[in-house]
This record gives sequence, structure tokens and C-alpha cells, in this order.
Amino acid sequence: MEKLGILVMIFLVAMQMVDCVDEGAKEVDEWFDKLPYAKQKVTKLHFFFHDRFAGKHNITAVRVAQGSGTNKSPTFFGLVFIMDDPLTEGLKPTSKELGRAQGLYAFSGRDELSLLMSFNLVFTTGEFNGSTLTVLGRNPAVPHREMPIVGGSGVFRMARGVASAKLRSFSMTTGNALIEYNVVVLHY
Ligand SMILES: *[C@@H]1O[C@H](CO)[C@@H](O)[C@H](O)[C@H]1NC(C)=O
Ligand SMILES: *[C@@H]1O[C@H](CO)[C@@H](O)[C@H](O)[C@H]1NC(C)=O
Repeated sequence: MEKLGILVMIFLVAMQMVDCVDEGAKEVDEWFDKLPYAKQKVTKLHFFFHDRFAGKHNITAVRVAQGSGTNKSPTFFGLVFIMDDPLTEGLKPTSKELGRAQGLYAFSGRDELSLLMSFNLVFTTGEFNGSTLTVLGRNPAVPHREMPIVGGSGVFRMARGVASAKLRSFSMTTGNALIEYNVVVLHY
């Protein structure tokens, strides 16, 4: 019976931990006190990322800086963009928005096309509304890109994981890049 009680307690503590997005420092302290009893979970997310860095309308990524040699570099070495890109459920930009990808990407490969990505996935709907995941990693010009998830907030406190990205379409004329994301995170 005692063992069952402990299991129920662990279960209840884990349930409570799901509901802690809008809380202050005291609640964060309490959350950490209960952490030894919390069960680790795996959450998988799938969405599409729309980056519009050129074109006339609804630009979502702006060029903010570049190096002295960027214009001559075949890999745009030194170029920096800040983005606030919509994340949607479906392929179409008009499909349901699940959140935004806010942060920056910098062309950090001198001899090859490669980006440094540093951004937050900011969820704005459903059970993850108000929670974030932080991505920090290398995004090379290869079909499959894997970027580490180094942390999170809200329901994703202490999260770790991997964001896999796959370029679905890209147009230099409209300045649209459509990227499919599969995210796997461990959290509590
Ligand atoms: C820009 O965004 C507005 C409002 O969300 C939308 O109505 C319009 O179709 C978009 N334009 C383009 C070219 O995507
Ligand atoms: C998300 O949370 C914000 C702030 O608590 C709230 O204003 C908004 O209505 C929520 N959105 C959805 C879709 O639940």
C-alpha cells in the first residue's frame, strides 16, 4: 500500500508540474523541490517553419548585420538575420499557427554554407501555450539538419532534445523558405 501511495504521489506531482506556466519565482522554487519525484517524459512535436527574408509582403526575417567581406563571400560569411517566423501545423502558411520561432541566424561558414541558429520556439496554442524551447546549433546546407535543444521554460523547464529540420521548398524570387521540423524533447 505504501508503494502505491508513493506512486500516486509521484503521479500527482507530475500532473501539477504540467500546470505551471504563469507562475513566479516561488513556484519555480517549489517546482525544483519536487523535481526528484517527477517522472521524465518524452514529447514529440511536428510543425512547419516559414522564413520570408525577401519579397514585398509579410517579411519575417530581417537582415541586421554583415561583415566587411560578406558581399564578396560565396557563403555569405558574416551575414546575420533576426527572425520572427510563424510555425504552422500544415505545409500552407495559412494553416493553423502553433507558435513562432524568434531569434537569429548567422552565416558562420567561411568555406561552406552553414548557419549558426540561436532561437526560441515560442508556443502560442494548446497545452504548450506560453512555454518555450531554446534551440542553439549548427544548420549546414545538407538535406537533414540536427540542432540541439538546450533548454526550455514553462512546461518545458529543464528540457533537452533535438530539433531535426528538413528543407521542403525554397524560392529566391519570393524569398520564402519552408522547413519541416520534427522535435523530440525530454522534460518533466
Ligand atoms: C500577408 O499577411 C496578411 C495578414 O496575415 C495576409 O492577409 C496576406 O495574404 C499576406 N500576404 C502574403 C503575400 O503572404
Ligand atoms: C495563450 O495564453 C495567453 C496568455 O495566457 C492567452 O491570452 C491566449 O488566449 C492563449 N491562447 C490560446 C490559443 O489558448
